[in-house]
Amino acid sequence: MNDRFLRACRREPVDRTPVWFMRQAGRYMAEYRALREKHTLLELCKTPELACKVTMQPLRLGVDAAILFADILLPLEPMGAPFEFAKGEGPVIHEPIAHLEQIEKLRVIDPHEGLGYVLEAIRTIRKELDGKVPLIGFAGGPFTLASYLIEGGKSAHFAKTKRLMYAEPVAWRLLMEKLAEVVRLYLRAQIEAGAQAVQLFDSWVGQLSVEDYREYVQPHSKHILNDVMKAGVPVIHFGTGTQALLPSMRDAGGHVIGIDWKTPLAEAWERIGYDHAVQGNMDPTVLFAPLDVAKRHAKRVLIAAEGRAGHVFNLGHGILPETPVATVQAIIDYVHSESER
Ligand code: CP3
Repeated sequence: MNDRFLRACRREPVDRTPVWFMRQAGRYMAEYRALREKHTLLELCKTPELACKVTMQPLRLGVDAAILFADILLPLEPMGAPFEFAKGEGPVIHEPIAHLEQIEKLRVIDPHEGLGYVLEAIRTIRKELDGKVPLIGFAGGPFTLASYLIEGGKSAHFAKTKRLMYAEPVAWRLLMEKLAEVVRLYLRAQIEAGAQAVQLFDSWVGQLSVEDYREYVQPHSKHILNDVMKAGVPVIHFGTGTQALLPSMRDAGGHVIGIDWKTPLAEAWERIGYDHAVQGNMDPTVLFAPLDVAKRHAKRVLIAAEGRAGHVFNLGHGILPETPVATVQAIIDYVHSESER
C-alpha cells in the first residue's frame, strides 16, 4: 500500500511528501459534473455505490489518500433538522434552531441507524481501494455544525450563532454537548467501518476570539478528539481563520493540525510544536495561477516544512469548483518530485 500519508500523520519518515486536497472530489472534475447531472448531491451521498464512485474519481490525479464522499451536514437530518442543498445557494436548513425547546428535541442518534449509508459507503470504498491508498473519514466540528443549524445556511458574521452562544448559555451548552456526542459516535463508527484516518472540519471556528473559543467550543471539541484519538488511527483537526487559535486547537486534540493559507506554515508549526504533524497550506486560488507561479507557491510550502517528518501537503481550504484539473495534477506531481528524499 502507498502509506506515505499515514506515515506522515504519525511523523514517520516518508519517501516523498504525501498530497491530498480537501474537497478533492467535486465540481472541478468533469466526471463529477457528469454524475451530478443525473443525481442530486444527497443521492450521491446516500447511495454507497455512487459515493464510492465519486471518492475514487480524484485518485487518477495521483493523490496519496482518498476522502470519503459525504458532507458534514448529513448527521443533522437524523438528529431532527432536515436540510437541502439549494441550487446556487448551498445548504438550507428547513427549520433553523432559535430556542432551547428545539435543542431539547434534537436526537443524539446512533450512527449505525441514522447514518448507516455512510458506514456502508466506507466498507464499499475500502473494498474498491483494495489497499491502494488509505481512506480518510470525516465529520464537522461542533461550532461549524451549530452555525449551520442556527443560521439556517451560510453566514457572513455568525451573528445568530454568537447571540445564542452569549445570551443563552444553557441552550448553547446543550446544543454543543449533543453535537459533540453525535460526532464522537459517528467518527468512532467510521473508524470501525474502515476509515484509516479521520478529519474534524471545524471550518468556521476561526470566527471566534481565543477566549471565546476556549470557553464555548474547546471543551466540546476535546470531548470528541480525546476519545477518537484513542481509536488507533490518525486524527486531523482543521479550521480556517485560525492563526490565533492554533495552540488552543492543538490543546483540544488531534495528531495532525490543519493550517489555512494565511499563516506561514513554518511559523504555524513552530507554535503548534514539532510533536504534532501539520497539514497544509497552499491558497486554493493559487491553482488558478499560471503553472510556474503555482509551483513557486508549492515550493514555498515545502521549504517551510523543511523536509521534517510529519508534513501532509494540502491546500489551506477546499479546492474551488472552477479549478483547472491540469494544474491540480501538475502540482501533485511537482510536490512528489520536489520532495523526493
Ligand atoms: O473532500 C471531499 O472530496 C469529500 C467531500 C466533502 C463534501 N463536503 C462534498 C460536497 C467534504 C469533505 C465536505 C465538507 C463540508 N461540507 C464542509 C467543511 C469543509 C469546508 O469546505 O469548509 C462544509 C462547510 C460543508 C457544507 C457544505 N456542503 C456547503 C457550504 C456546501 C455548498 C457550498 C459549495 O461548495 O457548493 C456543500 C455542498 C457540497 N458538499 C459540495 C460537495 C462536492 C458541492 C456540491 C455540488 O453541488 O455538487
